[in-house]
Amino acid sequence: MEPLVLIADDEQSNLDSLARIFVREGWRVATADSGAQALDVLRRERVSVLVTDLMMPGMSGEMLLRAARTVSPETEVVLVTAYGTVEAAVAAMKEGAYDFITKPVKRHVIVKTVRRAMEKANLLAENRALRAQLAGLGSGALIGNAPAFRAVLDALRQAAPTSATVLLTGESGTGKELAARMLHDLSPRASGPFVPISCAAIPETILESELFGFERGAFTGAVARKEGRFERADRGTLFLDEVGEMSPSVQVKLLRVLQDGVVERLGGTEPLQVDVRIVAATNKDLAAEVRAGRFREDLFYRLEVIAVRLPPLRERREDIPLLASAFLRRLAERHGKVPTGYTEEALSALETYGWPGNVRELEHAVERAVVLSRGTLITDGDLPDAVRGARGAQAGTVPTGSMAIPFGTPMEEVERLVIRETLRHTRGDKVLAAQLLGIAPRTIYRKLDRDDAGRLVGRGHGSGDEG
Ligand SMILES: Nc1ncnc2c1ncn2[C@@H]1O[C@H](COP(=O)(O)OP(=O)(O)OP(=O)(O)O)[C@@H](O)[C@H]1O
Ligand SMILES: [Mg+2]
Repeated sequence: MEPLVLIADDEQSNLDSLARIFVREGWRVATADSGAQALDVLRRERVSVLVTDLMMPGMSGEMLLRAARTVSPETEVVLVTAYGTVEAAVAAMKEGAYDFITKPVKRHVIVKTVRRAMEKANLLAENRALRAQLAGLGSGALIGNAPAFRAVLDALRQAAPTSATVLLTGESGTGKELAARMLHDLSPRASGPFVPISCAAIPETILESELFGFERGAFTGAVARKEGRFERADRGTLFLDEVGEMSPSVQVKLLRVLQDGVVERLGGTEPLQVDVRIVAATNKDLAAEVRAGRFREDLFYRLEVIAVRLPPLRERREDIPLLASAFLRRLAERHGKVPTGYTEEALSALETYGWPGNVRELEHAVERAVVLSRGTLITDGDLPDAVRGARGAQAGTVPTGSMAIPFGTPMEEVERLVIRETLRHTRGDKVLAAQLLGIAPRTIYRKLDRDDAGRLVGRGHGSGDEG
């Protein structure tokens, strides 16, 4: 659409002549004979450039300029001033006016000025749109390009337009909530509400009334009627987070709603018809919960109409650089810091570490690094110790494992046990073992007696399993 130019002047003849000039340029034109009227237009329409007389009764051009900056910051303002009020116009420039021109207005001058203001407004609008897109990349959208993740994105895109119930599974921090929001945003319900509720965070008795609402007097303390989340999510999406924590009694009620499509407030008599799409999430193995008798089988099948598993980050390591740079861009901006990338060592540590906390843990590690960093690149020194340690561990491809040490074991003995076990995992490589343990290699000798260490190292590759 052609950009809109708004002219504000209290004299009709001025409005007419300016309007004629601008229309001839092919611009859309709106006119206002007072500052107040101009503000109305600014509130209603996307005005590219406002051309205003500086001297107007009521709201002066200066006041209008100031108001316009709040009501419509994307609008550029050009002031028209009579000879003798140039000083005021210069002051107005400091308030953010784009330019001013003096009367009598020359056609080619005002056209040129307004055209340049228009170009600036367009450029700023484009920048804003780009920035919004980038921000969306970081905050709103699921990032990932690994085959395992592309399959997830495809499944979500396919499920989104339907009203089918979706069960999202995956470890903590894998993006289940983000996925639920994506399902909503890509659905025809996007303009309706997205209502999340965590079944773990809310005590059982309260969860029930939160979900279904209650009538006044339904129980002691129910002094007023309360609408439940189901009602609130009407024509939208209800996100049942940590659904595996739901108590049996609430499970029964939920099942009824899913079967009948109606909810009843506690103490209510009238069933309410609701149009709600359910997305549920859990980091538990819900099928195992069913087998263990903790989760109703019939409810499980109702929820699992479409099942999407968010893979842990360690199963899509290819995506780590992509995620790390997206988080860096977003967090550097948020914290007003400079870093624009990672050193090779830092990136390789990020790619090697196991990320038990998945994407959330990565996001936090990047945030910490951004805050700590002092240069243009994030170094491995800016990363949490555990992440940094991962790089050394990779060099020797150490198998992960654990050992049982009885409570009350003397510390000295604990140290010896851990050192010995680590040495065995590194196949006697004491430099690597020291790196993993975060101590100097010679400390290993000091902590073990020399013979012992020598014997362990000497035993070499593939030593046995005995303690
Ligand atoms: N694929 C992804 N792309 C971008 N950001 C992600 C992605 N996955 C997760 N995140 C971010 O990681 C954090 C955790 O994600 P989210 O809350 O969706 O995880 P979750 O699976 O619901 O975890 P939990 O089970 O602990 O509730 C959020 O800040 C989210 O923005
Ligand atoms: Mg979550």
